[in-house]
Amino acid sequence: ELGEFDHYMQKEMFEQPQALGNTLEMISGAGQLQPGMFGAEAQAVFEQVDSVLILACGTSSYAGMTAKYWIEQVAGIPCNVEIASEYRYRQSVANPKQLVVVISQSGETADTLAALQHAKSLGHTHTLAICNVPESAIVRETALRFITRAGPEIGVASTKAFTTQLSALFLLTLLLAKANQRLSESDEKAYLDELRHLPVAVEKVLALEPSIKDWAQQFANKHHALFLGRGRHFPIALEGALKLKEISYIHAEAYPAGELKHGPLALVDAEMPVVVVAPNDEMLEKLKANMQEVSARGGQLYVFADGDSAVKSSEGVNVLMMPEHYGLLSPVLHVVALQLLSYHVALVKGTDVDKPRNLAKSVTVE
Ligand code: F6R
Repeated sequence: ELGEFDHYMQKEMFEQPQALGNTLEMISGAGQLQPGMFGAEAQAVFEQVDSVLILACGTSSYAGMTAKYWIEQVAGIPCNVEIASEYRYRQSVANPKQLVVVISQSGETADTLAALQHAKSLGHTHTLAICNVPESAIVRETALRFITRAGPEIGVASTKAFTTQLSALFLLTLLLAKANQRLSESDEKAYLDELRHLPVAVEKVLALEPSIKDWAQQFANKHHALFLGRGRHFPIALEGALKLKEISYIHAEAYPAGELKHGPLALVDAEMPVVVVAPNDEMLEKLKANMQEVSARGGQLYVFADGDSAVKSSEGVNVLMMPEHYGLLSPVLHVVALQLLSYHVALVKGTDVDKPRNLAKSVTVE
């Protein structure tokens, strides 16, 4: 089943262009944005809701965090993201006009299912599942659903499930924006074109594997790593750190880069690799100042930059240029580079990539 690949994780990373193409099939070619993609009642619901609450665990929660930036910026409605295991036991204030979105690859995660049931018990009726398994427990319990078409994910570390979740969440963002009269025809067309081009763009990121492999050598003997990002790329830094922890067992932490001075900078020395998600967007100038703070303490920077970015390689500053700058959807490309990095670090370390110690693919007990 592995074919030309050594691990399921590798196979699944390389399946991402196809998985995205399948998930976005409804808008391919001349296909248009249709609320029906999320269920027959979706249009009516999208017109009624005044905010979004996303509930999920692990990697799926990072997809939700990325979507928060999209939904507030593009659709102009408030969006909060909460870890399912916290939400289910917390006394919260329910707003029945809120759209509750649960995100889960498996659709069987105990805490996410319980969080959904808790939301319903509080009076929420507008519920939506973004899930990779159509017959799963979570999908059976929501009013609306979008099934990602990543295909079965065998590797414990989530890869193609995450990027397809992001693509689904971007479609949701556009539909909410439209329902909220915030999406011009020309913007809609431009965003749909970017989505359609996404598989090709991801393909180009996968082609960076040889350079990323070289970087991985330099991580294998490290005990810690820091991941930095800002804005919609902060959740991508979180996901990059989680991937590295899970499969290479290197302790990694992610911070919004602006938080450096508020603590983590104390950890930075020549032994600390610092990975920076640094697309050429509105946050780049701020991020450059943060990188300077790391360099001044002897930290080794590994920067994923793009476009005609002015970030240049120098002593202690390693820069990898992503094939293209991708605007709002850039998190989808950057995370693929980080997946490749953690995969190759794990290979150098010789860990069991597809079955990391102590972890299960589907967490059906809390
Ligand atoms: C990390 C990973 C986990 C899952 C989490 C939720 O690589 O796979 O963090 O994302 O256990 O699982 P699902 O999405 O099935 O609810």
